[in-house]
Amino acid sequence: MELGAMRKSYRGDEEAFEEQHLVSRDPIKQFGAWFEEAASCEAIGEANAMCLATCTRDAKPSARMVLLKGFGQDGFRFFTNLESRKGKELDANPVASLVFYWEPLNRQVRIEGSVKRLPEEESLRYFHSRPKSSQIGAVVSHQSTVIPDREYLRKKNAELEEHYREAPVPKPSYWGGYILEPEVMEFWQGQTNRLHDRIVFRRVRDGSAPLGAFTHRGEGEWVFERLAP
Ligand SMILES: Cc1cc2nc3c(=O)[nH]c(=O)nc-3n(C[C@H](O)[C@H](O)[C@H](O)COP(=O)(O)O)c2cc1C
Repeated sequence: MELGAMRKSYRGDEEAFEEQHLVSRDPIKQFGAWFEEAASCEAIGEANAMCLATCTRDAKPSARMVLLKGFGQDGFRFFTNLESRKGKELDANPVASLVFYWEPLNRQVRIEGSVKRLPEEESLRYFHSRPKSSQIGAVVSHQSTVIPDREYLRKKNAELEEHYREAPVPKPSYWGGYILEPEVMEFWQGQTNRLHDRIVFRRVRDGSAPLGAFTHRGEGEWVFERLAP
């Protein structure tokens, strides 16, 4: 199918991005402000759904959706099967990229950085906060492995539901969380006339390094720049 003519006409306004949308010079706070707007926007079903891109050591990328389960100054948290394809890629090459697209708001956020496993206690706490059916689901599914058919999953699920009817489900050792510490965060606001706004923050560890002519100082180690759309 040819999709060359398929495009959305964004109805953003042309007021300066910095005045209208940039609420903080700290990208985590900026993300927080946009996230709150996305989470309270009825037209967005899962504001915390994000595309997670990982890469093998020999530079073969892969991407999939996961759910953001927390964020703060230390980074962005998500949970998964540590032995899944993404888990193996993150262990071999602990860097990743996240993308949020909040279509009704004409906004995209891109985040890049290094990734670490969350401490076991945190994974344990989150695992047991999930509904029992999700806990059993994590035990049932050796994510990203080949299985014979759907019946195999259904049977295993039923057996485990019976097995843990009265007992708590132990967290499998192969299930846990990761945290991505951001190095780069880009805020994209769709505007009319394709003059979209792109403000990109990057961490500069050496605070004494001179800034470029169009580089602005943000909070802490952050600087930010405007990129051509
Ligand atoms: C909206 C959405 C949210 C998802 N959230 C998660 C998640 O938080 N953790 C997870 O492991 N998989 C999640 N998945 C499933 C993944 O996209 C993927 O199928 C699975 O993690 C296996 O990926 P991998 O084989 O690349 O490791 C989600 C899928 C969708 C569509």
